[in-house]
Amino acid sequence: MSDFTYSNVTFFSGEKVPLEMHKARMVQRIHLLPIEERFTVINQSGNNTFLLPNRSVFLDMLTDSGVNAMSEAQYAAMLMADDSYAGSETFYRLEKTVQDFFGLTYFLPAHQGRACENIIARSFVKPGDFVITNYHFTTTKAHITLNGGQVLEAVNDKATLPLSDDPFKGDFEIEKLTSQIDKVGGEKVAFVRIEAGTNLIGGQPVSLANMRKVSQVCRQKGIILIFDASLLADNLYFIKVREKECQDKSLAFLVREMASLMDVIYFSGRKLGCARGGGIATSNRELYLKMRDFVPLFEGFLTYGGMSVREMEAMSVGIKETLDFHTISQTPLFVEALGLELVKNKVPVVTPFGGLGCHVDALRFIEHVPQRQYPSASLAAAIYLISGVRGMERGTLSEARNPDGSEHLSSMELVRLAVPKRVFTLSQLKYVGDRLGWLYENRSLIGGLQFVEEPSTLRFFLGRLAPIGDWQGKLKAKFLEDMPSGL
Ligand code: F0G
Repeated sequence: MSDFTYSNVTFFSGEKVPLEMHKARMVQRIHLLPIEERFTVINQSGNNTFLLPNRSVFLDMLTDSGVNAMSEAQYAAMLMADDSYAGSETFYRLEKTVQDFFGLTYFLPAHQGRACENIIARSFVKPGDFVITNYHFTTTKAHITLNGGQVLEAVNDKATLPLSDDPFKGDFEIEKLTSQIDKVGGEKVAFVRIEAGTNLIGGQPVSLANMRKVSQVCRQKGIILIFDASLLADNLYFIKVREKECQDKSLAFLVREMASLMDVIYFSGRKLGCARGGGIATSNRELYLKMRDFVPLFEGFLTYGGMSVREMEAMSVGIKETLDFHTISQTPLFVEALGLELVKNKVPVVTPFGGLGCHVDALRFIEHVPQRQYPSASLAAAIYLISGVRGMERGTLSEARNPDGSEHLSSMELVRLAVPKRVFTLSQLKYVGDRLGWLYENRSLIGGLQFVEEPSTLRFFLGRLAPIGDWQGKLKAKFLEDMPSGL
C-alpha cells in the first residue's frame, strides 16, 4: 500500500482526524504558567513574542524553523558525522543528497536561509535593480534592499484577501509579472524569485503550472529565476493533492520537474530537511562561480558553510525524507485540524488552510484596533497572555518603515500559529482553538500597542512595545472570572 493511501485513513464516525503514522519516543516537559505570571512575563518581554523565554511558553507556535521533530534516522545519522574543516565526508554526502534531490550539479552550503539570501543578493543585486517575487519574505527583502535593490510583488491582488478558495494563492499573476518587467526594463531586473509555500500570505502554495509559466517568461527575457525552496515540503504536498496533472507523479519527479525550471535554488535547512542549516544549488557554472567565493568569506569553508557536521548529516536524511508522502503531509493535515478548531470557535482565519501554520486574521478579529497600533502584535500578545501559546506577528510590525519614516501598512494583519512537524498533539490543538474562541468572545477588551524601543532593521525581532491603556489588566480580570484557576 502506498503512503498516499495510509494518510487517507477515514474514521467510521465520519470525524476528520489527522492520524499519525509515527509514534513519539522522546518527549519534552512543558509548563503552563498561570495568567498572573504570564501578565508579568509578556510585559517584561516588551509585548514581543520573540522576546519571551521558552520556559514561560506552553505551546511554542512561533515558527517551524529548526524546531520540527526529527526522525530516528536523522538522529542516528548525526553519530556518523565526519568532523573536518576541509573535505569532510559529511559534506560530500549532503552534496550528493542535494544533487540527487533537485537534479542539479553544484551545491554551496550556508548556515541558514538568510545566509543564502545574503550571498544571492550580493552576487546579483546592484543599486537601482529590481527583484520581482510572488510575495516578499522579511529577510529576503532586507538583503535585497541592503544591496540597493527594490522588491516588486506579482501575486494576484486577491491573494492577500484572507478568505478564498483559490488552491494556489501563491501563484504569480503572469500579466502583472510581464508588465512589471516591461515597466522597469528587463536589464534592471536582477532576478525573479518564486517563494514556495508563500510565507507571509499564509503559507500558500504555488502550482507547478504557474512555475512553468514564470520560467518561460524569464527564459524568453533572459532573466535569472531563483527559487526559495525553504517551504518546499508543504508546497509539494499541495501540488500532489491539489494539482490534477501531478496526482499520478512521484514526489521525486515533481521536485526535479520544479528544479529544472529554475536557475538557482536556495533553502533554509531549518525548514526543508528539518535540521539547522541551508544551501544553494544550481547547474549554471557561471552563476555558481559568482556566488562561491562569498561562502568562505561569510559562512565557512566550502565543505561546511557554517553548519555543524551533525546538522548536515541530519539535514541530508531530512531532505531525503521529504520524498515520503506521510512526512510531508503532517504539517498541512495538522494545520487543517487546527484551522477547523479555530473556525468551530468562530475565530477568523486565512483560507484555504496552507502549510506552515494557521493564520489568524487580526483585522477581522479586532476591527477596532487601527493598523498604526499594530493589531497583529496586540493579538499575539493577548493570545500569549490568555493561553501561554506563542504565535508570531505577521503584519505591519514585520514591515520596514518607508524611506520617509512613515509606516508601511501591511496588506494583511496576521498572527501565525506555526505547526512544527510532529510536535503537537490533537488535544493541544483543541486547547488552542478553545482559548482563541474565548479570546474572540472577549475581543472588545483588546487594545493596541506602541513602540518603546524600535530597531532600525527587522524591527519585529527585537522591538519592545507597551500597551496603549490597561487593556491587558482588564483581559486578565475577565479571564480570572471565567477560569478562576488562572490556567
Ligand atoms: N525564506 C523563507 C520562505 C522563510 O520562511 C525563511 C525563514 C527564510 C527564507 C529564511 O531562512 O530562517 O533559515 O534564515 N522563515 C522562518 C519563519 C524564520 O519563522 O518563517 P532562515
